[in-house]
Amino acid sequence: MVFEWTAPARIVFGRGAAADIGRRAAEIGRRVLFIRTGALPATGGTVEAARSALAAEGLEFLEAEVRGEPEVEAVDALTARVRPFEPEVILGLGGGSAIDTAKAVAGLLAGGGEVLDYLEVIGRGRPFSRPGVPVIAVPTTAGTGAEATRNAVLASRALGVKASLRGPALVPRLALVDPALTDTLPPAVTASTGLDALAQCLESYLALNARPWTDALALEGLNRAARSLVPAFRDGSVLEARDDMAVAALLSGICLANAGLGAVHGLAAALGGKFPIPHGVACGRVLPGVLSENIRAMIAGGAGRTVPAKCLRLAEVFLPARRGSEKTRMAALGDRLSAFVEELELPRLSAFGVTEADLPVLAEAAGRSSSIRQNPVALDEKTLIGILRAAL
Ligand SMILES: [Fe+2]
Repeated sequence: MVFEWTAPARIVFGRGAAADIGRRAAEIGRRVLFIRTGALPATGGTVEAARSALAAEGLEFLEAEVRGEPEVEAVDALTARVRPFEPEVILGLGGGSAIDTAKAVAGLLAGGGEVLDYLEVIGRGRPFSRPGVPVIAVPTTAGTGAEATRNAVLASRALGVKASLRGPALVPRLALVDPALTDTLPPAVTASTGLDALAQCLESYLALNARPWTDALALEGLNRAARSLVPAFRDGSVLEARDDMAVAALLSGICLANAGLGAVHGLAAALGGKFPIPHGVACGRVLPGVLSENIRAMIAGGAGRTVPAKCLRLAEVFLPARRGSEKTRMAALGDRLSAFVEELELPRLSAFGVTEADLPVLAEAAGRSSSIRQNPVALDEKTLIGILRAAL
């Protein structure tokens, strides 16, 4: 067996944990680059509190705002702007966009050069040869798990694709997860980000590179997301549901960093590169179709005995009432996930301008993505087009 284990050096989880941001930053350095989410009204108080916490410790800080998903050119420009400040610690506060930007800048400041030197798929794919500037990641959504991963997803609008910077240099030094920061998320953001976490747990559970220890964490995340995503969506003030989703998101990041993902994220990367679709919406919309196709192929005998056993375990999570044969329950999983997505009132892909004519190009791009390599079975282009069509 061959494996590596990647996770933040330290994880601090709990309601109120964010109050310690200043002290945690001061433990690492005095000059703080504070990369934060854009002007979501709900996070205004959080940003202000973080500023006060940094000031209370007497830290020197430079602030940068991230609006929307990070793009190659914007990250290069930001890195050039902050380099003279010589930050000793980078605080990334926000959703996946702010945290991934923090990680990307951390790697580039230490390693030199520009994004395309290191970017997978469309760049030169050079490894980072030095540890990045230490990052403290503070998520304000319960979704991407970016606080625990070693990659930063960047979009190239010029090429219409998303690709990752990747390497141990990008793993945050500290993941500071305070579920209270997610209490005011609007329902639509709760739904889409939560489905990202759920998809990440599910894909890493079935991924070719999954290991027993990632399976254990992925199942824990899936159980929490299965029981708490809909309640958190319906009533954001249910704190237990918010806490569950924050744990699920964190675990999903650890799992994807160590086991990989699959076709859901391959398709989501293709969709997100060409259309302004929130990542979690893209994941949620194609998830039922990918799961159904994976299960169909697994039942047909494409992936050894352990994978159907895992599908049965998934059926226990999502279809707890044990009715019908094993095959029937596995086959019903895709439909159950479909109903789950409908309960979350997720927009369809056509709402973002995706049409039938786009599907072949999207399927082809998904087939070239890094995520799809870990899918438990090979899905051909025709199958990927079918999955996209069902989500239009
Ligand atoms: Fe994701």
